[in-house]
Amino acid sequence: MANIIIVYSTTDGHTRRICEQLKQVAENHGQRVVITFVDDEPNVDLEPYDKIVIGASIRYGKHSQQVHEFIDRNQKILESKPSAFFSVNVVARKPEKNQPETNPYLQKFLQKIDWKPIKLGVFAGKIDYPRYGFWDRQAIRFIMWMTKGPTDPQAVVEFTDWDAVDDFGRMIAEM
Ligand SMILES: Cc1cc2nc3c(=O)[nH]c(=O)nc-3n(C[C@H](O)[C@H](O)[C@H](O)COP(=O)(O)O)c2cc1C
Repeated sequence: MANIIIVYSTTDGHTRRICEQLKQVAENHGQRVVITFVDDEPNVDLEPYDKIVIGASIRYGKHSQQVHEFIDRNQKILESKPSAFFSVNVVARKPEKNQPETNPYLQKFLQKIDWKPIKLGVFAGKIDYPRYGFWDRQAIRFIMWMTKGPTDPQAVVEFTDWDAVDDFGRMIAEM
């Protein structure tokens, strides 16, 4: 039985939900899984774990600074163990942008970091207009209008392909 740690960053909690699903799938495949919020435990020790997974959502074009710093700090250990990274964003709702090779945020991110994760994932996130503050809501509605997505200010839309999440969970169990 391998020990997996999933370190994540989230603003509205959707990446956390994806982590919980990954945990369930990996545990069903005989792995032991711990989930850690990078903001709460930026200095978590990765040494005791056999495999390391990092997941982060996109906000205004970027993954969080904490995730970049976490990766920089742990570069050596990340390179020494089986590891995976996944990104959560709403651009990935588009079929032509929902693969690691075709998602612009993931590609840009990989160019910025030195770590080379063995496995990569990208999942479409969630839009939850009633939850957002006024300016964020307006900004996202505008982006959605530009990209032919939902603009109703009451809309709550989950684009996540949970089968793809399950596939990724199996992949990290086997990596
Ligand atoms: C203020 C804000 C900015 C966002 N910016 C982007 C963006 O630039 N590109 C994108 O694809 N998705 C963007 N999103 C969508 C998020 O990536 C999506 O809602 C995701 O599910 C958030 O995950 P989280 O709850 O784990 O933070 C944005 C969402 C919010 C609320």
